Amino acid sequence: MKKSKKAKLLAVFATLSLALAACSSDQTSTKEKPAGDKTKTATEQKVKIVYARGKDVTKGTEKVVEAFEATHPNIDIEFREMPSDTGKQHDAYITAFNAKSSEIDVIDMDVIWPAEFAQAGYVLPLDRFIQQDGIDLNEYNQGALGAAQFNGKQWALPKFVDAGLLYYRKDLVKADEVPKTWDELLVKAKDKKGQGNTKFGYVFQSKQYEGLVCNAVEFVASYGGAFIDKNGNVAVNSPEAIKGLKKLVEVAKSDVVPGNVTTFTEVESDQAFIEGQTVFLRNWPYEYASANDKEKSKIVGQVGVAPLPAGDKGSAAALGGWMAGINKYSKHPKEAWEFLKFMAGAEGQKIDAIYGGHAPTITKLYQDQEILKANPTFADKGFVDGLSAAVSRPVAPNYPEISEIIQINISKAIAGEQTVEQAAQNMEKEMKAALNK
Ligand code: GLC
Repeated sequence: MKKSKKAKLLAVFATLSLALAACSSDQTSTKEKPAGDKTKTATEQKVKIVYARGKDVTKGTEKVVEAFEATHPNIDIEFREMPSDTGKQHDAYITAFNAKSSEIDVIDMDVIWPAEFAQAGYVLPLDRFIQQDGIDLNEYNQGALGAAQFNGKQWALPKFVDAGLLYYRKDLVKADEVPKTWDELLVKAKDKKGQGNTKFGYVFQSKQYEGLVCNAVEFVASYGGAFIDKNGNVAVNSPEAIKGLKKLVEVAKSDVVPGNVTTFTEVESDQAFIEGQTVFLRNWPYEYASANDKEKSKIVGQVGVAPLPAGDKGSAAALGGWMAGINKYSKHPKEAWEFLKFMAGAEGQKIDAIYGGHAPTITKLYQDQEILKANPTFADKGFVDGLSAAVSRPVAPNYPEISEIIQINISKAIAGEQTVEQAAQNMEKEMKAALNK
């Protein structure tokens, strides 16, 4: 995957309608042999695999694709950049797969999608390939692996785990000043805002989209609440959940965050941090690689990482992560599997951990010295334990509906259109109705 090709593809994506795109990946390209090579046939068949994922602000994807292409000369990977907002990305795939489009071969799937995608039959079960190639699933973090299983089948392989973290500027915040609670964060962010040319004290994802749900899960869990409890009961209208949501609204309305924080997703958050605009930031593990990327970041070497601030009941991180699956309509499932196997295997994950800052799902990689050197966070026991303690989002077959209820009601509370108590009551009513359908 060359840079120019990637840039061109990005432009193509802007105008592309996945559903209407008739072209399939069933195209083969021919590669000319060097002029002097008269002994072999003049052309060689190459299979093109289209691989789709959201915007990667790190070099992870590029490096993984490069390494794969170098060892698989007959498979060419075309990268298709999808919307970085996971909800929009989800909708684009649904449109394409409902239209039985074979245009995309391999996709990255958010941890919240597998049940839905498996049930709808959008992706291929991978069990046959796994068996044929003797892939040892015991090497994987079993929680991450389980998230890709449904009805006894393996629908995807986990590529990396995500958990929310607090990032800070080491040049502005001393180790003993790192806030331990949300209240301390508000104080410190106010204190430090403006230092070192910063414009904001804290930046987080407060737009009405899936990232807001992740942030809300963290606030609520840090005060001992849940949206849906372990037994599957709606629990959002509890004093604990309300306390957590009130803190979220307080932070969102405070003057330490950007005035337009309700337009911030991960992309804007990362941008603000690497440009040196904010003292504190909430984001996923990849931020470490992004903020230490010499080619684009103004804060290389100044990146501190800590657990998210605590509420009454401690610190809580939302569990996220991505896995790779194969479009059921792919015309090249064999080659698609080769790429998926590489990407989600130890070699691909190692490259992505080093260049993409992504937390591996193959457990032995946490002992790999090159990975630990590139990303010291992965050597931190607190970080690794934090990953396994991260809080899942509600598990429900119609998760997108549940998520939308949460997004809309919290956004209204942030905008002052309803109180947090009203938001909790509405969420309770609407979630119960959605779950009982
Ligand atoms: C990250 C997480 C994913 C989550 C998304 C929300 O990509 O890995 O699970 O849904 O952020 O924005």
